Amino acid sequence: MKFFCIAAARPNFMKIAPIVAALEGRGLETTLVHTGQHYDEVMSGVFFEELGLRQPDHHLEVGSGPHSYQTGRVMEAFEHLLATNHRTGDPAVVITVGDVNSTLACSIVGAKSGLFVAHVEAGLRSRDWTMPEEVNRVVADRVSDFLFAPSADAVDNLRAEGYRTDQIHLVGNVMVDTLLANRERAMNRPIMDELGLTVGGYALVTLHRPSNVDHGPTLRSLIASLEELSERIPVVFPVHPRTRQRLADHGIETTLRLLEPTGYLDSICLQANATMALTDSGGIQEETTALGVPCLTLRENTERPVTVTHGTNKVVGTEPATIRRAWREILAHPPTAGRPELWDGRASERIADILAGALDIPRLRPTDLV
Ligand code: UD1
Repeated sequence: MKFFCIAAARPNFMKIAPIVAALEGRGLETTLVHTGQHYDEVMSGVFFEELGLRQPDHHLEVGSGPHSYQTGRVMEAFEHLLATNHRTGDPAVVITVGDVNSTLACSIVGAKSGLFVAHVEAGLRSRDWTMPEEVNRVVADRVSDFLFAPSADAVDNLRAEGYRTDQIHLVGNVMVDTLLANRERAMNRPIMDELGLTVGGYALVTLHRPSNVDHGPTLRSLIASLEELSERIPVVFPVHPRTRQRLADHGIETTLRLLEPTGYLDSICLQANATMALTDSGGIQEETTALGVPCLTLRENTERPVTVTHGTNKVVGTEPATIRRAWREILAHPPTAGRPELWDGRASERIADILAGALDIPRLRPTDLV
């Protein structure tokens, strides 16, 4: 049995790294495939170095582009890889993580090639069809044999959609595995001194969702809200390439302190020491919950409600008055921290145990919902 582990874009690397390690720790054969959805040093290279992820066995080099183009290129390239590197009929599992276009593409190709497909982070739902990631999540789950859910709400979603109980596995959050394993190294990074920041004395901002940054007036209004916050406490803002481009496209100038995208360890260090994070990232909602740092999600919804019910996250949308009320509330009364069930650093071990244990089971296809 071979395991094709798919890495693709920035939020995937810290999810796939502990899974590869856990499978290899059990002597299982892994093939690491980088689709190249993210490709440059700041969005990809630095994560491999910092996470000790070995160089990919295959690099599909698809690059950026519109959704269908990017998804189509990954499908074509991954199908070719399987055709040339895997004997038809030999058992194999394609492991996809998260909700990016490569997750969707590789899940479909794996299923159509007759391989088992395992989706890690299954069952998350924003119920917002304008989000490209929501389409990716739903379709990836639908063609997967193994659904590894990070939280009980994700299990509930999968059950409500009719998936069979034997497909659904509540395993916890693989991102937290990587966070806990690297926390100490992250806290020793010199980034705080380099930026002249004090512990608990600044807000960290990230923004990259198309719904927030592609529309000029929305982005302008968000930047104005953040500038207002920066009059109360320093704001640091590592800027995603998409957002940097949109700021230029819309001619938006700002007094905010803009940084280049950070690597993984600096990102954890900056989150852990912040007074609060303001973000539209799914990963940062989870990491701040695991770290116990207050988080304001600048979106209308979240596919990760457990960070609100059990963690430090609050979904505040994009209205300036609501954002202002929310950060004032945090400065006055920071929320208490809590950690969701099984966010304990062992999710990847559970996944590897389940996959290893399932190798002998007769072939089950996800075609029959109950
Ligand atoms: C993608 C994912 C999103 C994830 C995000 C994290 C989808 C649909 N979206 O969105 O879920 O949260 O990654 O970053 O899969 N670029 C670079 N260097 C790179 C990669 C991209 O400069 O290594 C630039 C390109 O100019 C590109 C832009 O960033 O046009 C946006 O990248 P893209 O991969 O299209 O989508 P993201 O917004 O990053």
